[in-house]
Amino acid sequence: MILAAQLSDTHFDLSARNTERVEAVMGYLADLPRRPDVILVTGDITDSGTPEQYAQARTALRADIPVYLLPGNHDDRANFRTDLLGVPAATTPINSVHRVGALTVILLDSSVPGEPAGLLGEDTFDWLLAALADAPADGPVLIALHHPPKPLFSPVVDVIALADPGRLAAVVSADPRVIGVLTGHAHSPVATTFAGKPMITCPSTASVLGGAWEVAPPHRVMDYAPDPAIALHVIDESFSLTTHFRTVAMGGWLAEPPA
Ligand SMILES: [Fe+2]
Ligand SMILES: [Fe+2]
Repeated sequence: MILAAQLSDTHFDLSARNTERVEAVMGYLADLPRRPDVILVTGDITDSGTPEQYAQARTALRADIPVYLLPGNHDDRANFRTDLLGVPAATTPINSVHRVGALTVILLDSSVPGEPAGLLGEDTFDWLLAALADAPADGPVLIALHHPPKPLFSPVVDVIALADPGRLAAVVSADPRVIGVLTGHAHSPVATTFAGKPMITCPSTASVLGGAWEVAPPHRVMDYAPDPAIALHVIDESFSLTTHFRTVAMGGWLAEPPA
């Protein structure tokens, strides 16, 4: 069994609040009797992409478990590289591939500089096909990106989702090794299918964005009251994907029912 924890939309903004929420989540993961094999962070790491926000993220997301990150629409590729990843600045897409035991995790950069909506560019598609060609022939593959490639009945996010999703769908449906697609961006835990495979959207550690039945702008859009939440993905020996969503209570663990 492989256990992959997913955090998303941490939105580091130099406030103590968003940092403390990520620290609570990282502490929760570090204290698990069976710790995750990998931690994935699926974009909107920072709120506005400044070096100071990435420095805050870099400290809070430090772990002795591998942490792999991809950018979202609130991120800045150059600062993401220099101040979070510690690599030279560049504005090309930040795609990466990682092996976690038998699992291959492919992280795609769906951000479009200066735009809230997402798109996988030509260079990213070429890179994805090469990454799949290099992946083990008999191992499972998870593909992660920030922007959901289909509508989620989320009025705020559906208008800034992934453009041209059909191209990604063709790749996902054609490759039997792809066991699922992971996204962020929606600030809501969502389970659906995409191209015939499971598609899981991770909640945000920072806030909750309502569905079509909840949102009533301008006063009722984002909810900052709920505690941070994450997704925990289990990949078993038959390479099926099972996901638990977990709220990490800021008040800590409660082993007995309250009086
Ligand atoms: Fe976000
Ligand atoms: Fe986003």
